[in-house]
Amino acid sequence: MSKRIAVYPGSFDPIHNGHLDIIERCRPVFDEVVVAVLYNEGKKPLFTVEERVQAIREMVAPEIRVESFTGLLVDFMDEVGARAVVRGLRAVSDFEYEFQMALMNRRLNPRVETVFMMPKEDYIYLSSRLVKEVFALGGDLTGLVPEPVIARLGERLRPARKGAAD
Ligand code: PNS
Repeated sequence: MSKRIAVYPGSFDPIHNGHLDIIERCRPVFDEVVVAVLYNEGKKPLFTVEERVQAIREMVAPEIRVESFTGLLVDFMDEVGARAVVRGLRAVSDFEYEFQMALMNRRLNPRVETVFMMPKEDYIYLSSRLVKEVFALGGDLTGLVPEPVIARLGERLRPARKGAAD
């Protein structure tokens, strides 16, 4: 029987505990999990794709593959021999975008199935966008983002001091 390989794609700018929770949930379900980091320099990410790949590799189990990709996700899936795309679904608001992507990916490659997983309830409101915003404004991200990511955010974004007038 062929291996059940899942691709978990995303921008991961940066990775947070909701993403790590989904990766952990994939492990018992699939034979192999490939985290696929989108090379999206046009979107002006905070971290380069190399930095994002490196950060994720440091935070996941050694058997999880972490790769970057450009172009169509379905082409990357063919390259790695995967049939399943895993996406985290947090709230109803995620659904429309995810539904469109899942159906477009299926249209582009009918072999591809999208599997949705719900993260732990503690993380359902968490997004990379909010992580960057809260950090930049000096908010506490303990328990939401791994410590090494908080350190990297500190190197890239200077958090606003609480009570500072400017
Ligand atoms: O974490 P994100 O930004 O929500 O992830 C979006 C991602 C990377 C899954 C999506 O933008 C993607 O797959 N991009 C690759 C280009 C592609 O295949 N586009 C057509 C998707 S229907």
